[in-house]
Amino acid sequence: MSATPPPEDHVQAGANVVPGGSTKDLPTPVLAPPLPVLRPNAARFGFPETFLWGAATSAHQVEGGNTNNDWARWEEMGRVRVPAGIACDHYHRYRDDFDLAQNLFHNAHRFSIEWSRIEPQDGVFSDEALQHYGDVIDALCERHIEPVVTLHHYTIPRWLAEKGGWDCADMEKWFVRYVTKVVETYGDRVRWWITLNEPVVQVFKGWIIGQWPPGRASDYPRAFQVLRRMMRSHVLAYHAIHERRPDSMVSVAQHCLAFTPNHPHNPFDLISTWWRGFLFNSLFIEALHTGRLALPGQFFERLPFGRTLDFIGMNYYTRDFVRNTGFTLPGFVGLSGTLENERRIGKRNDLGWEIYPEGLGQFLRGFRRFGLPILITENGVPASNEDDRWGFIYLHLWQVMRAMSHGVPVIGYLYWSLLDNYEWADGFTAKFGLIGVRYPSLERIVRPSARWLGEVIENRSL
Ligand code: FCB
Repeated sequence: MSATPPPEDHVQAGANVVPGGSTKDLPTPVLAPPLPVLRPNAARFGFPETFLWGAATSAHQVEGGNTNNDWARWEEMGRVRVPAGIACDHYHRYRDDFDLAQNLFHNAHRFSIEWSRIEPQDGVFSDEALQHYGDVIDALCERHIEPVVTLHHYTIPRWLAEKGGWDCADMEKWFVRYVTKVVETYGDRVRWWITLNEPVVQVFKGWIIGQWPPGRASDYPRAFQVLRRMMRSHVLAYHAIHERRPDSMVSVAQHCLAFTPNHPHNPFDLISTWWRGFLFNSLFIEALHTGRLALPGQFFERLPFGRTLDFIGMNYYTRDFVRNTGFTLPGFVGLSGTLENERRIGKRNDLGWEIYPEGLGQFLRGFRRFGLPILITENGVPASNEDDRWGFIYLHLWQVMRAMSHGVPVIGYLYWSLLDNYEWADGFTAKFGLIGVRYPSLERIVRPSARWLGEVIENRSL
């Protein structure tokens, strides 16, 4: 999964400059003069002045009142514990929430546009919704917070789900029509775009384990078909965005899950660990980067274009242990989880996921091979205790700092999430927020860790 880190003497003052001599007009992170040294063992490490600091959210998880998408239908079918309902009512309270983010020194914010609001019926665009997200973007810009816009964060409109959604061959066409409308409307104000959030996770949950819409289980043929459709949709969206905003920065948010063999010396577990890592963490972005989708022994396909990532968007949370279950494709992919390995794993978060900051460092160093800037688009912890949350953030930022000091071009860190929110099938129990949300009043409580992170941002130093 990870490449060997470069030797220490590789560290150089220009370590944050985009490698490969990219000609893109990036806001290349430059080192501020007083803090030029980038060695982990140096007295002070300075995050670049242009580093993007902030938090992330997604529409269905925070806005409230999203009743016209496939996830709302899923909720009505009783497939999840609780519906999102009013969530954090962020749809109406975004200005106050952004005030809090600004006070915490955030200079970037990732949020998603809800497709079912923008296009509530096939081909019908809502002026009201277009106005709303324009206001959201303006509210961020007024607070000097850079908007990072996700175009698709799992949910699709009902009318689209009824036509088959990602299972339908026309999906690429519908996606590009929606993306084009959005970029034509906001392209003057938005430079940073995430086309798809965690496509591999979505396919895994929706087509392999059936936990999320459309609820298919073990449907490997369709799962691969959907993945390919998502890749082509990204490629088309990438070009639609760049045509309208040539200096835009476009990527996907790739979920990165660290994997370790269940039994370290079992060769089959080792093989499955490689397979799972390749499928979950590499396949999608390798294909977008190279323009070739290659699954050894399964298929090979050329995408319409390569090089459709301007940066790598990375979501990182935890690691799993992988157990081989046989010699078919599913067997090679194996099963993963943390439960069999109680004795070897460390602390867990409130959802039972292992806290494994080293994994972030491994991914950062490994993804250096793409020669692209890396934006951490999500990293966070559900914690009922603030020491745990701060420990998590600090240890992960430490990994970021170490990677940067080895020359990995990390350009920003967006914590998941700004607010306690609706965590899909897990409902409202997971407290991911820098800002707590008290129910039922929906009162916001700025947590201590939010302030401690604010100090790091302000001082540009851990
Ligand atoms: C990520 C999702 C995000 C949220 C966090 C906890 O995988 O992108 O919506 O659920 O996990």
